[in-house]
Amino acid sequence: MLLLNLVFLCQLALSPSVAAPYQGTHPGLNAPHTGSSPRSSRNKLLLISFDGFRWDYDRDVDTPYLDKMGRDGVRAAYVTPPYLTITSPSHFTLLTGRYIENHGVIHNVWFNTTTQEKKQYYMTQFVDSYWDNGSLPIWITAQRQGLKAGSLHFPGTAATYKGERVKVSQVEPRFYEHNNETDWRINVDKVIGQWFYEEDLDFVSLYFGEPDSTGHKYGPDSPERREMVRQVDRTVGYIRDTAQRHSLSDRLNIIITADHGMTTVLQNNSVDKITLSKIPGFDFRDIEFQLLDYGPTGMLLPKEGMLEKVYQVLRRGHPHLHVYKKEDMPGRLHYSNHPRLLPLILIADQGYVLNGFFPVQTNKGEHGYDNQVMDMKPFFRAVGPDFQKNLAVGPFETVNVYPLMCHLLGLTPEVNDGSLEVTRQMLITNKDLGSNDNRDVQWELLIGLSAVAGFLAVVFVVTTAYTMLNRRKQRPDSITEDLNGEAYENSTF
Ligand SMILES: *[C@@H]1O[C@H](CO)[C@@H](O)[C@H](O)[C@H]1NC(C)=O
Ligand SMILES: *[C@@H]1O[C@H](CO)[C@@H](O)[C@H](O)[C@H]1NC(C)=O
Ligand SMILES: *[C@@H]1O[C@H](CO)[C@@H](O)[C@H](O)[C@H]1NC(C)=O
Ligand SMILES: *[C@@H]1O[C@H](CO)[C@@H](O)[C@H](O)[C@H]1NC(C)=O
Ligand SMILES: [Zn+2]
Repeated sequence: MLLLNLVFLCQLALSPSVAAPYQGTHPGLNAPHTGSSPRSSRNKLLLISFDGFRWDYDRDVDTPYLDKMGRDGVRAAYVTPPYLTITSPSHFTLLTGRYIENHGVIHNVWFNTTTQEKKQYYMTQFVDSYWDNGSLPIWITAQRQGLKAGSLHFPGTAATYKGERVKVSQVEPRFYEHNNETDWRINVDKVIGQWFYEEDLDFVSLYFGEPDSTGHKYGPDSPERREMVRQVDRTVGYIRDTAQRHSLSDRLNIIITADHGMTTVLQNNSVDKITLSKIPGFDFRDIEFQLLDYGPTGMLLPKEGMLEKVYQVLRRGHPHLHVYKKEDMPGRLHYSNHPRLLPLILIADQGYVLNGFFPVQTNKGEHGYDNQVMDMKPFFRAVGPDFQKNLAVGPFETVNVYPLMCHLLGLTPEVNDGSLEVTRQMLITNKDLGSNDNRDVQWELLIGLSAVAGFLAVVFVVTTAYTMLNRRKQRPDSITEDLNGEAYENSTF
């Protein structure tokens, strides 16, 4: 009798209404998923980047919504972006989990050293071959594995990867005001109300161009930057409210981070500016192609036979300028081994910028410095059903965000430079059962349940009558096998 009860309990546990609680109540217009696996037990994921949000920007401003998000979820002390600490390269690391020398999006500027052509940030968005250099962003991997992905304004959104684009997307117009709070809300409504709720997307990346622009223009210590952080904070509140209004809070994980920080440019008259044309012995006629006047870093392609001369001249050129032959770049920067990198790489110390012919740079704030510089570190917050509550964790590198996102979405990740082990502590323990593979939490629990049931049944059988000898071996064991077999089948989609 007890045996039969156990069998009945296991079957009950396996029924669709228990295994996939969201399917019946889902408010979306479209069918949640194709396929037969209980996929809707997997939660949705929203990745948000606030460009240039430094790790400590919430320390001199009241940020009630970011604080609440911290209490409701996980906050890291800070995160370490990849070098070069600029927008397109660092965002592509978030999307691929690869260091910049491995994903190939080495700069915001696309260039051709033969034709001397350069494309600035916005125009590079449409150069497929620039982004599609061997690493697949998570949208494409998600789509290939049966999920629905979207992206709004995130760097890399417009490009095609191995013939495939992120299916749901919005790319900003050419001259877009990145600071309009009304627009921000319209975009949040679109992502949450339309894409997640109505169209039932599984993953969306959402980008805001602030507080980067304000940090550049007024400096990170300015009242304008603090005001922009208040706007970011209100928006975080609006995002969470909007998710709540659509009853998505308990099945939407939200990660908020950034691509880099910001530091104050030293600008008074006693600061010895770095201007290459002023360095004794340096001659632009020795240079075939240059990428300068772009914050604190630069790259040079010297003319044939001139590399050693240019290198030696620049080495002694300025106490706050560091020049490396590409192959001698410090290994920890992972910015050496890619054909797009030019033979000489120049890095200025914190607070300095690198000028070519004249000092043309007027920004009060800059980024692009060594990723060890504390002012280059972004913030990181996460909240949602799979994250611990009110947990503060130590710093980690942003290459690790990708394997975390793949785990949350149940995706088999592409080759990457991160590790789930770094962020595993942030997750609620149930999710940990799944380790790196694709299994659903629900199924993991069921397997555990069936094992316990099987064990109890065996104990029962062994300790009761001989007369049950014929039946005792088959029933419990076969149940366990069935459960495992089914769980395994459902994990491959
Ligand atoms: C640069 O331009 C040259 C000449 O037009 C062309 O042969 C080469 O393929 C281009 N390289 C890249 C990376 O676009
Ligand atoms: C990446 O780009 C470089 C230079 O532009 C090119 O030589 C290389 O073949 C590309 N690799 C892949 C996998 O697309
Ligand atoms: C901000 O965006 C809204 C909605 O797109 C628009 O109506 C408004 O004119 C914009 N405000 C500014 C100052 O550009
Ligand atoms: C100028 O900047 C330097 C370097 O940060 C600083 O030591 C000095 O006090 C500043 N001088 C003035 C007049 O602000
Ligand atoms: Zn940026």
